[in-house]
Amino acid sequence: MHFHILTLFPEMVMNGLNTSIIGRAVKKELLSIEAVNIRDYAFNKHQSVDDYPYGGGAGMLMQAEPVYLAYEAVMEKIRERRQEAGQQETRSRVVYLSPQGRVFHQKLAEELAKEEDLILLCGHYEGIDERVLEEIVTDEVSIGDYVLTGGELPAMVMVDAIARLVPEVLHNDVSAEFESFQNNLLEYPQYSRPEIWHGKKVPEVLLSGHHANIEKWRLEQSILRTGQRRPDLLERYGKE
Ligand code: ADE
Repeated sequence: MHFHILTLFPEMVMNGLNTSIIGRAVKKELLSIEAVNIRDYAFNKHQSVDDYPYGGGAGMLMQAEPVYLAYEAVMEKIRERRQEAGQQETRSRVVYLSPQGRVFHQKLAEELAKEEDLILLCGHYEGIDERVLEEIVTDEVSIGDYVLTGGELPAMVMVDAIARLVPEVLHNDVSAEFESFQNNLLEYPQYSRPEIWHGKKVPEVLLSGHHANIEKWRLEQSILRTGQRRPDLLERYGKE
């Protein structure tokens, strides 16, 4: 899978994504992540990409043209790669990170993990000229009901959540299947050695070696925990 991040702060995004599991997956070529600097597509000699909003108001807006040219450059690369591989041309999804979008969740991560290319557009200042958003954006996504200074951290959150679902990125392929949010349940509690720590003992059933009982206990714990912490999720358990 190929991630393309359109941003004014490419180093921020690349530094955040080149370590740990995602960094290793990139080295193994299970994924590629490129950050495209929108400023490289500025069309004036000062390389500015922002301007005052028509009608007045606080702050500056990112202009349409540099964003569009950066997008076109990415699309051209995608087209070339697909042509060389003898694949059909398809429209890539373009996600604009914004607090006005629909809220990101695990199901959307699973859906987007099936894409071959994903373009993520990070806004800054007071936003982006609406006209370019109308032309290129297929999905507007928020990572939660709070306002950040830009779309970079949300883009990194999305890349992390999606990339770990790409086959072979996690060492243990089953671990993505049985974790929080699968079936709308939170994960059960887990324990490792030693058997007793600060006077607290590991639940007996986990030491029993009886797999059916362990599975039953884990499901009960998941249901209990989801009811206590996320009753809204438990409502949906077994229904979707
Ligand atoms: N940009 C600023 N705040 C954001 C948020 N909560 N989600 C996505 N993009 C954003």
